[in-house]
Amino acid sequence: MNAETISDALKQGALYLSAVTDVPLLEAEVLLAHVLKYDRSQLYIFSEREITSDQLEHFFLLINKRQQGEPIAYLTGHKEFWSLDLEVNPDVLIPRPETEVLVEEMLKLPLPKNALIADLGTGSGAIALALAKEKPDWILHAVDIHPAAIKIAGRNARHHHLNNIIFHQGNWCEGLPALKFDAIVSNPPYIAENDPDFSPNVKRFEPLSALISADSGLQDLKAIISTAKNFLKTPGFLLVEHGFNQRKEVVSIFEKAGYTSINTFQDLASLDRVTIGTYQG
Ligand SMILES: C[S@@+](CC[C@H](N)C(=O)[O-])C[C@H]1O[C@@H](n2cnc3c(N)ncnc32)[C@H](O)[C@@H]1O
Repeated sequence: MNAETISDALKQGALYLSAVTDVPLLEAEVLLAHVLKYDRSQLYIFSEREITSDQLEHFFLLINKRQQGEPIAYLTGHKEFWSLDLEVNPDVLIPRPETEVLVEEMLKLPLPKNALIADLGTGSGAIALALAKEKPDWILHAVDIHPAAIKIAGRNARHHHLNNIIFHQGNWCEGLPALKFDAIVSNPPYIAENDPDFSPNVKRFEPLSALISADSGLQDLKAIISTAKNFLKTPGFLLVEHGFNQRKEVVSIFEKAGYTSINTFQDLASLDRVTIGTYQG
């Protein structure tokens, strides 16, 4: 590694990354922009500026980690969700674009002004923050079992000046105050431990407690669906994210628990991803 300018460093970084990603230049840009505290366009505006040896060392440390499979979001400490820049670290799952379907479907529901909403398993706070931003009159209660996640989610809410979210540490609905909610949303762990499609890099770097669930990936979905109804107004809505191949089982869990008007929605890849049920009491 021996680059004198931003342009040289970028080319070298992209070359190193071409072995591990389909978008080596983009990834090198994101990492170099992070090191230099630039936005990506500035890398080109100032392409002939000199790069210091400390900056170069930092950049190639990140390139090295990326070569070993570490996700870009953990290397930069940021991930965008619903146009919100969120702080992330290995204590929380990196929010996924498919989870935006939960937000979209929640925003389509016939919910009153000042609706009371719960987000179970909030992680970085992605879902709660997106809803709080779209609906400043809603009151959100966000729960996670991990104190470290609550800390990050709280920092993200403060960073975006979202004062309508209250955070609680606890086990699913046990973490909620004794209230009745207009809607409850959750993206719980739903991957089966032995799932052959489970990406080895996701497994290595992201928190397994945010991803894996017993009982073929259904244990947490069952716990949430069966208890959420006790915290819903009538009518009230429960929205859950699940695996693309879990629709049948999830619909049946909703039915057995007494929900009606059960519908499943697809993500951008046309895969079954979100199921909503109404609880009428
Ligand atoms: C799939 S991640 C979702 C994170 C975030 N909501 C998102 O969509 O990016 C699941 C989250 O559920 C939390 N979790 C796991 N078991 C839990 C439990 N028993 N009670 C509450 N939260 C739990 C994990 O810590 C993790 O943050």
